[in-house]
Amino acid sequence: MKIKKALITAGGKGTRLRPITYVHNKHLIPMVNKPMLQYALEYVASAGIKDIGIITNPDYHDLEAVFGSGKTLGVKVTYIPQEAPLGLAHAVKIAEPFLKGEPFVYYLGDNILRGGIQTFLDAFYSLKSDCHLVLSKVRDPQRFGVPELSDNRIISIEEKPEHPKSDYAVTGIYIYNESIFEAVNAIKPSPRGELEISDAHQHLIENGKNITYSEITGWWKDTGKPEDLLEANRMLLEDVRTLIQGTTDDLSVLAGNIVLSSGSVVENSVIRGPVHIGKNCRIQNSYLGPYTCVGNGCEVVNSEIEYSILMDDSAVRYVDIRIEGSILGKSAVISKSEGIPSNHRFIIGDRSQVQIR
Ligand code: TTP
Repeated sequence: MKIKKALITAGGKGTRLRPITYVHNKHLIPMVNKPMLQYALEYVASAGIKDIGIITNPDYHDLEAVFGSGKTLGVKVTYIPQEAPLGLAHAVKIAEPFLKGEPFVYYLGDNILRGGIQTFLDAFYSLKSDCHLVLSKVRDPQRFGVPELSDNRIISIEEKPEHPKSDYAVTGIYIYNESIFEAVNAIKPSPRGELEISDAHQHLIENGKNITYSEITGWWKDTGKPEDLLEANRMLLEDVRTLIQGTTDDLSVLAGNIVLSSGSVVENSVIRGPVHIGKNCRIQNSYLGPYTCVGNGCEVVNSEIEYSILMDDSAVRYVDIRIEGSILGKSAVISKSEGIPSNHRFIIGDRSQVQIR
């Protein structure tokens, strides 16, 4: 039976991305100036799946304001609020009325990969799979669900094991037939109080289901932590091609792939791509280095920034030290303090992180 539905997660707590996630749903954080969740929707849509359920927190108006009915992306979106983040298997459980026992793609909305998901669907069909998992080799398997492999078969799966039985992570892309519903209804919450998707997979294995897998050969990133966001952003920027819609003056030097969106102005500055600059920004007497994304309405004046993400309406002015590996939330401002005494002044929200050299 051809897969017509997908379930994408956009709930959860996002604790590791605080303070940004105090204000925004993690899945709306921009990656190359596009909300993270849009990548998941586009991957699924380009595999021909247009009927998409999105798991959300109880209040999902922020997501709805951005994606609406899904029409602009050519899909039909159904929002499925989850009362609390009770686990990835819990999300499948509450989506059962939407999925109606049909096979489906389950995609964790904070996973970014290259190359789309079609090859995984092809493998699911050709291997006559009950559950197809997508694996990726990682350096820190302890953070993930980890499969134990034998003769090219998955013989067990453990969630965040202390002693991993392989160096693979089960990524956030899964394809299931109806047997997953029996599994998510059979398992019990883990010690951390969640219905774990790894336990559902283990249940399928123990009940003789055909669990198959593909290995991701390109890159894949689970954007749970700030450094993962920057890395995913870097990888996506590799695909950016030059498009200059804004204006630059004769004193500026632009090299490499750069997007300068309409209404943005570059004056007396050096920009080394890949760099993506949104609309109506001002870059003046500054340096923007590789793997930097600047949102809409930002200002960078007399400053140097590399490998960073600036969200909409943020500003960096007259900062003497180069800023690297940084994420600025919406309307955040870093500027030189004026007057006497000469000092540093900070107004920093809860759980913000500032590192000064
Ligand atoms: P996680 O990264 O496991 O959790 P999180 O996003 O809450 O982040 P943190 O660990 O920093 O608190 O979640 C993976 C994906 O699943 C992500 O898209 C959020 C989503 N999710 C839900 O929608 N419902 C849930 O019950 C859980 C646990 C996660």
